[in-house]
Amino acid sequence: VRTRVAIIGAGPAGLLLAHLLDRAGIESVVIDQRSREEIESTIRAGILEQSTVELLDSSGASPRVLSEGNRHEGIELRFAGEGHRIDFADLVDRAVWLFPQHEVLKDLIAVRLTAGQDLRFGITASRVEDENPAHPKVIATDAEGQPLTIEADFVVGADGSRSVARAAVSGSATGGYFREYPFAWFGILCEAPPSSEELIYSNSDKGFALISQRSATVQRMYFQCAPETDPTAFSEAELWEHLQARVPGTTLTEGPIFQRDVLRFRSFVAHELRKNRVALIGDAAHTVPPTGAKGMNLAIADVVLLEKALRALLLENDDRLIDAYAEKALQRIWKAQHFSWWMTSMLHVAPDASDFDRRRQLGELRSVVESKAGQTYLAEAYTGWPHQP
Ligand code: DHB
Repeated sequence: VRTRVAIIGAGPAGLLLAHLLDRAGIESVVIDQRSREEIESTIRAGILEQSTVELLDSSGASPRVLSEGNRHEGIELRFAGEGHRIDFADLVDRAVWLFPQHEVLKDLIAVRLTAGQDLRFGITASRVEDENPAHPKVIATDAEGQPLTIEADFVVGADGSRSVARAAVSGSATGGYFREYPFAWFGILCEAPPSSEELIYSNSDKGFALISQRSATVQRMYFQCAPETDPTAFSEAELWEHLQARVPGTTLTEGPIFQRDVLRFRSFVAHELRKNRVALIGDAAHTVPPTGAKGMNLAIADVVLLEKALRALLLENDDRLIDAYAEKALQRIWKAQHFSWWMTSMLHVAPDASDFDRRRQLGELRSVVESKAGQTYLAEAYTGWPHQP
């Protein structure tokens, strides 16, 4: 197969990039190892930054994001048994939208297939070859095990945290800057009305909890657990006890729990984001811990930069933007790394935390909620820095 841009990975980053390129008249092929059903049903994050929503809507990538997403103008930070509202609308005149990632993916897939554009499921890429740097190749096999080679003018690795494209860019499949955390999230989906109008990020002596939502009848909640926790280890009653104990001062509305998972997390940035005509976007380039909901939004911000660079390169033979891609993307990536690390460290209780650490952490939370400057930083970062400052 021969195409202009070969994109490995049909997640939000790969599919949105393909959509924007199509609108600019640049054809691409998108492949993914998973089936359409798997992609459309995997539960992931739920919060979209304002700039993400504006782009998904104005480009026609997600016709439902505004009509079915829910606008949230603030969150509650809860600690020491009290809730403190961070009012995004008042502080920064911006908002976020709750619209699950797999719903965005359903829209992106439908838009691509309706436009008759090339999108192939069940294709496993094994590596990217750039012996001829002007025409990199994706080496893959299809669902029947038959070899498939895609030759392109540019290859994009949008293939997630276990990227196979990364080796061609940074010389190593796993190399990068990273840190791990001594805790994970236990996530549940339950059938119940919302327990709160807005999301609650709660710090307690027992650890962190996040009370999020999915719809009027389905709620998403998480609590801090040990990374080795077995998701089947708790009864439903025990899960509610753990959640309730981590949001002191609030009463959660309980209901049947129909899905549970343990999310381990870490911070990671690949050493390089581009080499010749191969670039990384999204989780292939970086992962952030989930506190603060930056993951998908950061992937979309990479797409905005790379799409402009590819237009200049492939339509006008101008390589200035592609040469600047990594440096430009990394500025935002490290800001998001910092914010995600900060929210994580400020809200979770580390297993080895001393009494000093615990009291300092409460001092930090109080410094944020009692300062307009502190609240404003949180609001700016949470609602997302604009794509074009
Ligand atoms: C959700 C996940 C997050 O990591 C977050 O910060 C907010 C919401 C969610 O899944 O709803």
